[in-house]
Amino acid sequence: MKIAATKTIEPGTTLAKAVYNENGQILIQKDVRLTKRMLDRLLKFNITYVHIKDSLTDDIDISAPIPEKLRMEAYQTIKHTFLEFQTQGIEKKSFVFEKTGGEMTDMVGSLLDEIQKADQVVSILSDVFLTDNYVFSHSLNVTIYSLALATELGMSRSKLEEIGIGAMLHDVGKMFIPHEILQKKGKLSDTEFEIIKGHTEIGFEFLRSNHNIPLLAAHCAFQHHERLNGSGYPRGLTEKDIHPYAKLIGIADVFDAVTSNRVYRDAMLPHEGLEVLYAGAGDLFDREMVEAFRRTIAVYPTGLMVELSDGRAGIVARQNQQLSERPVVRILEERGEAVVEPYEVDLAEQLNLMVTSCFAADLAKS
Ligand SMILES: [Fe+2]
Repeated sequence: MKIAATKTIEPGTTLAKAVYNENGQILIQKDVRLTKRMLDRLLKFNITYVHIKDSLTDDIDISAPIPEKLRMEAYQTIKHTFLEFQTQGIEKKSFVFEKTGGEMTDMVGSLLDEIQKADQVVSILSDVFLTDNYVFSHSLNVTIYSLALATELGMSRSKLEEIGIGAMLHDVGKMFIPHEILQKKGKLSDTEFEIIKGHTEIGFEFLRSNHNIPLLAAHCAFQHHERLNGSGYPRGLTEKDIHPYAKLIGIADVFDAVTSNRVYRDAMLPHEGLEVLYAGAGDLFDREMVEAFRRTIAVYPTGLMVELSDGRAGIVARQNQQLSERPVVRILEERGEAVVEPYEVDLAEQLNLMVTSCFAADLAKS
């Protein structure tokens, strides 16, 4: 099994993992040979990468750290809570969370159990499912990344639970921003950008007046776009005034934003998303948190085609826990020629070797 960029796949290729919609219904069954129509449909729904079959890598297991069923339940919990918030409007708040708050807390607990049980680094690229709204899937991904990062930082269970709720609700203010602005393809005008920035304050006001929601969750919504050097919004807070939870959620937020497909651009691969974080480490983002984040995610997800610094190329076969940028690679090509017998190279042992490029990424951009 390997990961391939949807737009580079030839019709006739066999799908190795089913593609679901957000209700858990299968849209395309695994083992189906993809037709041109199916491929167009995947692209239309912003599915940039899928898992395909390939005889040399069929034994490579790309299992997701969070079971698909739980991911979909979590997506539904978020969707349903956010939509209820939206229909009730900004004024009538307290009663919704009483009803769904318990559900959300339970969901954070279940996600946390899975994250802590998984002996593998988090790779959201391994879960392919269609979503109908970016804010919902983004809130879920940010929750998963934030919980993984907070776990890596050694935070206590009660803090982890607070962070989970804060992460799930960090963008709730977007439910009150006009859809046309959120989904706009072209450049935003200054006024439109100001309106979008307002989701932080709206979220804060909304959450803090709801007595069933921890006040810290309201502050996560308020502060997740603040940056250490004061260049963030809405208040331009600096390092010492930004709550650690907001710093952490801000990192998860940026990473998911750049590695997800958006209306205005293609998704980056995880190693490119990390480069964005590293470029801002110290100025925008807490450096220690960025380092810890790198340890928790699969920098080169299993199944990805990579090229090594000595010219050999292959597919990521397994992850090395705690050395997320040095996985085990199954070599399929040497100097551009297919090898007769594929073999594996462990980058955690061969420290002179480096990954120099990822094919799915290069092809995806062409
Ligand atoms: Fe946000």
